[in-house]
Amino acid sequence: MYRLSKPLFGVYIHWPYCLSKCPYCDFFSQVDNAIDENEILNGYQRDILFFARLKKSYLPITSVFFGGGTPSLMSPESVAKILTMLQDWFDFDSAPEITIEANPDAVNFEKMQVFQSVGVNRLSMGIQALNEADLRFLGRRHTVETALMRLKEAKQIFSKVNADFIYARPGQTPDMWHKELTQILNLNLTHYSLYQLTIEENTPFYRQQIEVPDEETARTFYLMTNDMMRKAACPPYEISNYAQEGFQCVHNLTYWRGYDYLGIGPASHGRLGLTATENPRSVPAWLNALPVCTLLTRQEKMEEKILMGLRLIQEGFPVSLLNPQGVETAVRYGWGNVKDDLFYPSEEGLPVLNRLILTVIPNEKE
Ligand SMILES: C[S@@+](CC[C@H](N)C(=O)[O-])C[C@H]1O[C@@H](n2cnc3c(N)ncnc32)[C@H](O)[C@@H]1O
Ligand code: SF4
Repeated sequence: MYRLSKPLFGVYIHWPYCLSKCPYCDFFSQVDNAIDENEILNGYQRDILFFARLKKSYLPITSVFFGGGTPSLMSPESVAKILTMLQDWFDFDSAPEITIEANPDAVNFEKMQVFQSVGVNRLSMGIQALNEADLRFLGRRHTVETALMRLKEAKQIFSKVNADFIYARPGQTPDMWHKELTQILNLNLTHYSLYQLTIEENTPFYRQQIEVPDEETARTFYLMTNDMMRKAACPPYEISNYAQEGFQCVHNLTYWRGYDYLGIGPASHGRLGLTATENPRSVPAWLNALPVCTLLTRQEKMEEKILMGLRLIQEGFPVSLLNPQGVETAVRYGWGNVKDDLFYPSEEGLPVLNRLILTVIPNEKE
């Protein structure tokens, strides 16, 4: 079983702009033709200073994640400045993972090279589909050809490359996805995020009442995906995340293992022990406010730890922290099994994770 033994501490930076909005996406991002990058940088600096002064000491930073929105629209100079600001106020681990999310149409070879030269060492490209009709349906601006070209370029520059895909799309059969996933695996990347399409409220897909497959079909898609990924030596280590051995995303492991992380930028959130921090979901409101801190109860923190920890398929969660009767029930339902006092969710349990969590979570009085 893969396990990084050291404690992790991550920094998330949110870039709130895209070239256009995809109709399924509920992430906080907007289209703006007059972005004042310096103003945003000042906001990031203000957040960084706020956190640097909030606590006496922090662990060394093990990961930085530039997410969005479309952070590959940022100038590499801004990325360099943010990394310098962090270095001014925090210690860094000797080999931190530094990821930037990119869209194929919002980056090119030269820009990726400059990102790499200022310290980025992992690139995460949002591809979503490998056929033109579905790319158009998903509102993507790039073609299959551009996506493949960008990935090829990214592989020349970065040793760690992820691609995001969305499957179980309307009209897509498991057989069609099997063919597409075979093509995807031929890309030979170190990491894949493979999400089933979800319909989020307040999105055009929700208003258009786009339908996703029923539970049984979704399960078929999921089991087939995991099976193919395992056979390709890129097994699942989280519900939707697959990696070659040693290439799991350190930043996401930070969240799922319940470690601390800073949330910088609009709509981002952070965790520092029992303190939860949250920034406004609007650029002007964020620019005019400090992160809001609230204190979680121990019960809330524990529930969060279970919610996150159970996603990590390979790692197991201490049974002593769960409701013993609930664990028995979950095992009986085939949703997981217990080995060496650790509870491991099964492939039957993961697609119904919310129900599984409600079953195994301890009551407040226990
Ligand atoms: C922050 S988003 C975007 C990254 C990048 N801007 C892009 O679009 O390529 C991260 C990923 O979440 C996934 N995602 C977003 N909304 C989704 C939805 N409704 N259903 C499934 N996956 C979704 C997409 O795969 C997307 O690439
Ligand atoms: S999926 Fe990516 S490009 Fe599309 S709206 Fe969301 S963040 Fe922007």
